[in-house]
Amino acid sequence: MPFLHFRPSSTTKFYAYKCHYFDIVLECPSCTLSLTLVVSHLYSATSIQGSDVDRSDAFSRHSRATDAADSDISDAKPVRIIHVVGARPNFMKAAPVLRALRRFPEVRQALVHTGQHYDANMSGVFFAELGMPEPELNLQVGSGSHAQQTAAIMTRFEPIVLETRPDMVLVYGDVNSTVAAALVCAKLLIPLAHVEAGLRSFDRTMPEEINRVVTDQLADLLLTPSIDGNENLQREGVPECRIHFVGNVMIDTLVQLLPKAQSQLPDELPPQYALITMHRPSNVDDSTFLRELLQTLDEISREIPVIFPMHPRTRQRLAELGLSFSCAARMRLTEPLPYLQFLALQTRATMVITDSGGIQEETTYLGVPCLTVRENTERPVTVTIGTNVLVGRNMVRLGDEVKRILKGGRRPSGVPPLWDGHAAERVAAAVVNWQPSR
Ligand code: UD1
Repeated sequence: MPFLHFRPSSTTKFYAYKCHYFDIVLECPSCTLSLTLVVSHLYSATSIQGSDVDRSDAFSRHSRATDAADSDISDAKPVRIIHVVGARPNFMKAAPVLRALRRFPEVRQALVHTGQHYDANMSGVFFAELGMPEPELNLQVGSGSHAQQTAAIMTRFEPIVLETRPDMVLVYGDVNSTVAAALVCAKLLIPLAHVEAGLRSFDRTMPEEINRVVTDQLADLLLTPSIDGNENLQREGVPECRIHFVGNVMIDTLVQLLPKAQSQLPDELPPQYALITMHRPSNVDDSTFLRELLQTLDEISREIPVIFPMHPRTRQRLAELGLSFSCAARMRLTEPLPYLQFLALQTRATMVITDSGGIQEETTYLGVPCLTVRENTERPVTVTIGTNVLVGRNMVRLGDEVKRILKGGRRPSGVPPLWDGHAAERVAAAVVNWQPSR
């Protein structure tokens, strides 16, 4: 059976699909399209663990109506692509790439979710908002140490790759799911493309930096969001022909959804507010620093109201240490927010205080002042061109920078090259034109 689509042919009159609960037999080739949709629905987000569904079947069953229709108008050899996502920041990067590749009739796509993030508000809600298809497979790895998480993803992803032998696997960003899938592909000699390649903080105490360096060493196609990415890769000896400067796919999603987000602004927002996110292990796993940070944020909230959607890691640490904000704090704590709501809040924020990578980029695009509680950043263009200021772990500096912004002290800023809403189209072109011999 062909990968990811069903092609009616004169020799195949009967299509039989065996699924978990039903045997469905389609007798009429002209009915294939509508009945395929029913089957896809039955199999959406098939779980690998705890299921006796045959993996190769689960994949091939996931023909989309568009794929099936497209297959009839294309004589080109199918290009079979697997996208691997796992954690919140992956979803907004993969969404525009999936969409851009759908325009190529020869491309068949499958989406694998590793299950690294599993709460509805860290994962599920993004699929609906971003217009992403349900993942064909969810590896359900869940939480664990870095080794446990990486190993579980590798163990569960390897059989999928072995059974489907895709033409290329696309991985995104710097999370554990990215490096785990990259290692599997490299050892099985499956071509690998890394979207958001080349970023470096030069800080190997960050787990994400290890993930970036390893993934880039293994990738065949390195798609960079900014020119510093190209320079880093060249310095590390990556052959020039593998590197493509495509721009920032995360900004594609922002550009596409900004009007919708702006229409969802909550009514009762204060005229000025600081928006906060904080989840890096270096900030929240260090109890001494976490106490200091909490106290500083408490003080900042007396100068400007604060909205703080809290990452589960941070919530856990605060609970473990029995820490909370004072009664005097003007602090609105929320669960992690859906993409559109969070984007809406960024657009209107007086400032954003964060340790996230993606938010440094989004605030730069939006021209909103950003104070980053880290000693370094793998996204230096957000500082040199954008609105970002690295305050490090210096809480006096953080307080001073907040005061500067409140007094109206804004630095001139701009948008980096190719952060133009069309990066995913350049990714798609590079993937489709990739030649194994190079
Ligand atoms: C991961 C990424 C980080 C990214 C961040 C965005 C790595 C190494 N890190 O960090 O680059 O910026 O995602 O969120 O991949 N948890 C839940 N529910 C969830 C997800 C996580 O409760 O849906 C809790 C678990 O207790 C888990 C902890 O949060 O142990 C941390 O999750 P983990 O996947 O290890 O990494 P993040 O800190 O989310």
